[in-house]
Formats: sequence, C-alpha cells, structure tokens
Amino acid sequence: MEQKKKTFMTGDRPTGKLHIGHYVGAIRRRVELQNSGEFDSCYVMIADTQALTDYYDDPDRIRESVLEVALDYLSCGVDPAKSTIFVQSRIPELFELTCYYLDLVTLSRLERNPTVKSEMKLKGMEESIPVGFLCYPVSQAADITAFGADVVPAGEDQAPMVEQCQEIVHKFNSLYGETLTMPHLLLPENDSCKRLPGLDGKAKMSKSLNNCIYLSDDERTVEKKVMTMFTDPTHLTINDKGHTKDNPVFIYLDAFATDDHFRRFYPQYENLSALKRKYEDGGLGDVEVKKFLARVLNDVLDPIRKKRHEYENDIPGVYKILEEGTRKAEEKARETIFKVRRALKINYFEDKKLQERQSKRFRKQHQDEENLKAYLAKQKKG
Ligand code: TRP
Repeated sequence: MEQKKKTFMTGDRPTGKLHIGHYVGAIRRRVELQNSGEFDSCYVMIADTQALTDYYDDPDRIRESVLEVALDYLSCGVDPAKSTIFVQSRIPELFELTCYYLDLVTLSRLERNPTVKSEMKLKGMEESIPVGFLCYPVSQAADITAFGADVVPAGEDQAPMVEQCQEIVHKFNSLYGETLTMPHLLLPENDSCKRLPGLDGKAKMSKSLNNCIYLSDDERTVEKKVMTMFTDPTHLTINDKGHTKDNPVFIYLDAFATDDHFRRFYPQYENLSALKRKYEDGGLGDVEVKKFLARVLNDVLDPIRKKRHEYENDIPGVYKILEEGTRKAEEKARETIFKVRRALKINYFEDKKLQERQSKRFRKQHQDEENLKAYLAKQKKG
C-alpha cells in the first residue's frame, strides 16, 4: 500500500517585517519540511484577517506587511513550487468554517486560552475585548482544518491554538461523523529556537519593544545591534567567570552557530561547547564573542538579503505568486467545505437524493390524502 503523505499548514500575522526569532522558530523549519519530501502539501498563510483582529484600526500596516512577509518567506527559501503561499482574507471558505465551529466552543473556553489572555493583557484589552479577537483561535482552527493539515509547525505560543483546534475537530467528528483531520503541533527542535529573547534580554523579540534583528537588516545594522546586546550582568571584566545560560548572546549562538562557523570565523574554538567552557571559566570578553555572533548572523542573513533584493525588484511577480497560491489554497478549502456542509446536512443543492427523497415524501403524503378523500366520498354516498 502506498504510504499516505502528510500535509502541513502554518502562517504568520502580517503586522511588520519578520525578525530572526521568526526565522529560527518557524521559517527555517518550514523550509526544511518543505524540502524533506515527507509532505505532499505545504500551506503557508499570511494571516491578514487574524492581524486585523488586533490592528483593525491600522489597516495600512497590514497592507504593507503582507508584502513584507511575502518577501521574507520567499527570501528565506519558502518555494512557491513546493509550498502554497496565500492570503487568508481572500479565502471565503475560512469564514464559513469559522461560523460553524463557533457553535462548538463556549465563551468560557475562549476566555481560558493562555496565549489570548497574555495578548489581552499586553494590549490593555482586559476591560473591553473585541469579540473577533477573542474568537481568533476558532478562526485559526478553520485555517488548520480547511487544508486537512495533520502537522502545524509553530512555536510554543501556538500550542493553545492547536489544542483548541483539536477540541473542535474531536467535537465535530463525534457529532457529525469523521470529517476533519486531527492536527498536531510540531515544535522547534532546539530549545533556544523556541523563543529567541530580545536584544535586551526580554523574553521575546517584539517590534514594539524595539529589540529585534530583522531578516532585512543590513550587515552594519546587525553588527551595531549585536554590540548593544544584553549579556551576563555578573561578567564585569574579562577574567570574571561568566554565565552562558540565560545569556542572550549564547542563546543566539545556540540557535545559529554551526561547527562550520567556528572553522571559518573562530578557529581557536572547535565548537560552541568549547567556547562556552572558556566563557564560564573566565578569560573571554563579551566583545569578542559578540563579534563572532555578528559574523555568524551576517553569514546566515547574507544569502537571504540577496534573494530578497531580487524579489524586491519584481513586486508584481511577488503578487502573482500570492494570487496563484491563494487560488490553489481556495481549491483545497472548497473540497473541505463541501465535506463539512454534507456532514452538517446543509448541502441542499449538491444532494440530489435529498430532493428525490423529499419529492417522494410529498408524493406519498398527497397520495394518502387523495385516498382518504376518495374513501370518505364513497362512504358519504353509500
Ligand atoms: N497565530 C499565528 C501568529 O500569531 C498566525 C496563524 C494564523 C497561524 N492561522 C494559523 C499559525 C494557522 C499556524 C496555523 O502568528
């Protein structure tokens, strides 16, 4: 028997350019998965509808960021020949699915979602929360199921969304029969990649905290930003013993540096373990390690920048890719919506047997009425 190949589906909100946290936490993995041969379908979505649940008052930001994110994807190697890159808002089937799923989720369940809770807090929405924002995990379940995804490669913060989706799939399939595919979250392998801290050591890179390195930053900007990075606050002089754990410079190295980088840029050390040992023993300065980190980052970003440049010179071509991807994605979503409508028994127009059965029912009813009338008339006469 032929082995069933898998489908992955994932995406990002277009609220700005993507940074290196997105790259190690998500995009690098997608490119690997896309090229692994294990998947017969790969869907990568620019989640503009979801971005609007949060930035409904700033549509210009979303509009510009759709292109930025598309450029980031393409320049990182998401390949439109292998992955379907598409725009969420242009797939009406997703809205329809969301509507049906909303019946299967309670308000208190939505209010318990830890990622939504912390986003609400961050945005001061606790007092007055837009319904669309509260419900975005349901719309995300529509995104995942519409494409029959069994794998969702994403960061830890997306775990509550995938759980919510699993609950919806379970409930839907138990109520209406096996229809939807059960998805599973695929986390980044390397712990440092799960959540890259900001340059300032804060838990997360975030545009609003101004602590990001962007995929589109030039070489000089990357060097400058790395030099400002927070390190070990107890490592005051070179000879002090240093800490590599919770030290953003070393977390970035964990996420990016390969043995080959050591061979090429820092041959005094065989690999990252050797460098860490030296830092921990004392005798290694932050500036030296930062210089190495900047070289590593620029080595990784350089081919991405070059590719980005090429795509930037052909913006209509980029939109063509999005349009074509969106058309393809909608085809798949339409297949799902037909199955879902059938399961929900609302496929009135497609179900020819329904019309036959209903016609028959009325024919029989009319016949019975006729028979009764005839019978009564006969009795009266008699
Ligand atoms: N919630 C994701 C983010 O904040 C974006 C997203 C929307 C997504 N739909 C998805 C991710 C489906 C994975 C699968 O970036």
